Amino acid sequence: MARPVAEWVNVTDDVSIVARESGEVWFYNRRSANGAVDPFVAPMEGMGSRGSTVGLLDGAINLAFSTIESRFAQPAPNLVGYIVALVGAYHTSVDTPRNLRRAAARFEELGRPEVAAYLELRAREESGHDRLALKDLRALGVPGERLVANFIPEGIKPLCKRFDELCGEDYPIGSIGYSYCLERIAALKEKNDIEIVRALCPEGVDATRFLRSHSSLGSEASHVDETIEFVASLPASDRIKVVQETYQSALILAEGYNHELLKSEPQMRQEIEQALGEALPHFHVQGTQKHCVAAPTAV
Ligand SMILES: [Fe+2]
Ligand SMILES: [Fe+2]
Repeated sequence: MARPVAEWVNVTDDVSIVARESGEVWFYNRRSANGAVDPFVAPMEGMGSRGSTVGLLDGAINLAFSTIESRFAQPAPNLVGYIVALVGAYHTSVDTPRNLRRAAARFEELGRPEVAAYLELRAREESGHDRLALKDLRALGVPGERLVANFIPEGIKPLCKRFDELCGEDYPIGSIGYSYCLERIAALKEKNDIEIVRALCPEGVDATRFLRSHSSLGSEASHVDETIEFVASLPASDRIKVVQETYQSALILAEGYNHELLKSEPQMRQEIEQALGEALPHFHVQGTQKHCVAAPTAV
């Protein structure tokens, strides 16, 4: 009988994520091992499987988010916060095709045409997504071009910097981990999250193009699927780096989101109006909602 595939990746000095082909995942903490032999000290080798790859990648995101769980902000939804989120969405998507093509060109040089082809495909799929965010801003009566030219939300800057650096590395495989992290989180958004934003918008205004496209209703779910399939096909050393970067990117993203979500509405309004050099339009909203607005940030 064939042995079930188990994969593992050390994401911190103390913690390894372990996943089985069945989808079972657990975190092995070597600090609580009490001197027992560490079965995960050596890097994994061998082939990957789809089930264990999902387990490792999603395990990395969950582990990173658990580090800020106790201080995670849950603000009441508001349109000003959504405008900030759209500006963040613009900045995390505007350079994505160019960056992915840089990484693709490097893999071509390295003699890895299959990785280059995957990154090229992703670059094509992500093209024009920044314009969806601009259209949403415009639909809300906000001069989007001027706003994004003068304003990058503080919590979004480290994410943009990270992706830029990853795509410029000598061996830019980590760019896949970063993209997976952002797309996986976007794909968690469901119809209800979009309805919440719709209800915040003025009557007759559709400002959910970016959010819809970067949700379970849009292309994000298939992007996540393609990435899982591709990562599972990579050699073990690459899979390890992708999972480690998924963890690092999720840490940066969780901290950045939280930084923005902790701001009050007047504080956010002030930042936007300062960047615009004028007051935001007065919004006639349809009603109030009790749940948190899903930030649309994604690649
Ligand atoms: Fe995507
Ligand atoms: Fe996108």
